[in-house]
Amino acid sequence: MRVAGAAQRKKPTVKETAADAPDPAALLAWYDRHRRVLPWRAMPGETADAYRVWLSEIMLQQTTVKAVAPYYVRFLQRWPNVDELAAAPLDDVLRAWAGLGYYARARNLHACAGAVVAEHGGRFPVTEDALRTLPGVGAYTAAAIAAIAFDRRAVAIDGNIERVVARLFAVEMPLPAAKTEIRRFAKTLVPESRPGDFTQAMMDLGATICTPKKPACSLCPWFDPCEARRRGDAETFPRKAAKVEGKLRRGASFVVIRADGHVLVRSRPSKGLLGGMTEVPSTAWTQDFDETRALDQAPLKAKWRRVSGVVEHGFTHFPLEQSVYVAMMPASANAPAGMRWVPLAELHGEALPNVMRKVIAHAGIELRRDRP
Ligand code: ADE
Repeated sequence: MRVAGAAQRKKPTVKETAADAPDPAALLAWYDRHRRVLPWRAMPGETADAYRVWLSEIMLQQTTVKAVAPYYVRFLQRWPNVDELAAAPLDDVLRAWAGLGYYARARNLHACAGAVVAEHGGRFPVTEDALRTLPGVGAYTAAAIAAIAFDRRAVAIDGNIERVVARLFAVEMPLPAAKTEIRRFAKTLVPESRPGDFTQAMMDLGATICTPKKPACSLCPWFDPCEARRRGDAETFPRKAAKVEGKLRRGASFVVIRADGHVLVRSRPSKGLLGGMTEVPSTAWTQDFDETRALDQAPLKAKWRRVSGVVEHGFTHFPLEQSVYVAMMPASANAPAGMRWVPLAELHGEALPNVMRKVIAHAGIELRRDRP
C-alpha cells in the first residue's frame, strides 16, 4: 500500500511536453492545496486502505458523494475490515445498504468481501486484471482501486474525468463514440509519480471546478492548456449526439431477479426492431403508453418496485423513455412461457441491445464485463 505523505512523495516526473500541454504536476499542486476531505480518502501522510477505497468506490457507483458519506461511515464502524464484512450475514449487509438502492451491488459487495478472504487471504489484489475478477468490480472500479489504493498507473475514467478530458482536448466527437478517444487522451496524462493522487485530483477538478454547467475556468490549474476554454465554449463539452428524430415513445421493462442470482429474459421476435436480441420482459414502445397500467403487462405476479427515473434511449427513428420495475422471486420460481432464467454472471454474454443494457444498469445490476 502506498504512503501519501508529502515527505515521502517523489517529485512528479513530467515528460518534456509542448509548452501548452496539460502538466500533471500543475494539477497535483492544485490538489495539494484544494483536495476535498472525504471520509474514505487517506489524508496526506496516511496509508490508503484498499478495503476503504473499494467500499467507497462500490458505494459511489451512480450515487453522489453526499449521499454515500453517511452510509460509508456507518458501514466502516460496523465492519471495519474485509474479514468482518465477509463474516457478516448477508441480510445484515442488505439492511445496512437499504436506501442506497441497487440491491445487486450490496449482494456483490458481500460476495466480493468473501472472495477477497477466501481466495486472496484477506488482501485485495493489486492489479487491475486481478481486481476485475472480483464480484461487482468492473473496469472503472478496478482502475480506481488500483490507482487510489495501490498507486498504480491505471486509467480510471468516470463521468467527471470524461468531461475534464473532453474539454482539455476539445474532443469534437460526441459521446458515447468519443469514449475511446477520451481514454487515449487520459492515458497520456497519468503521471508515473502519484497516479493515485492524480486520479483523485481529476475527480475533484471535475466535481468542483470543471463542472457540467458554468465551469470555474479562472480557478483551474489547467486554464492555459485547456483547448475548450481557449475557444470559449468549455460548457459545450463533452459533445452529445444530436437529438433523435421522431416522436417520443414510452414503455416499461420488468426486471425479475431470482433469489439464487438469475434474471428473467426472453428473445425478441426474429423480425423487426432488435430482431432476435435478448430483452428483459417489456411492454411495447408506444406514443400513448399509459404508465398507470404498466403492471397489467408484468410477466408475473410479484411485489413490483418502480426504480425512480426513466431510461432514455435514442433509436434512429424515435426517442424512447423506459420505466423500469424490479421484483424478487424465490429460487423455485418457474419462467413464464417463452422466457428463461439467465445467471447474473452470464448476462453480459447475452445478445443484449444497448437499451436493455441501460435498463439492466438502471435496475442496479452490473454486467460482469464492461463494453468496449
Ligand atoms: N467518485 C467516484 N470515486 C470517487 C472518489 N474516490 N472520490 C471522490 N469522488 C468519487
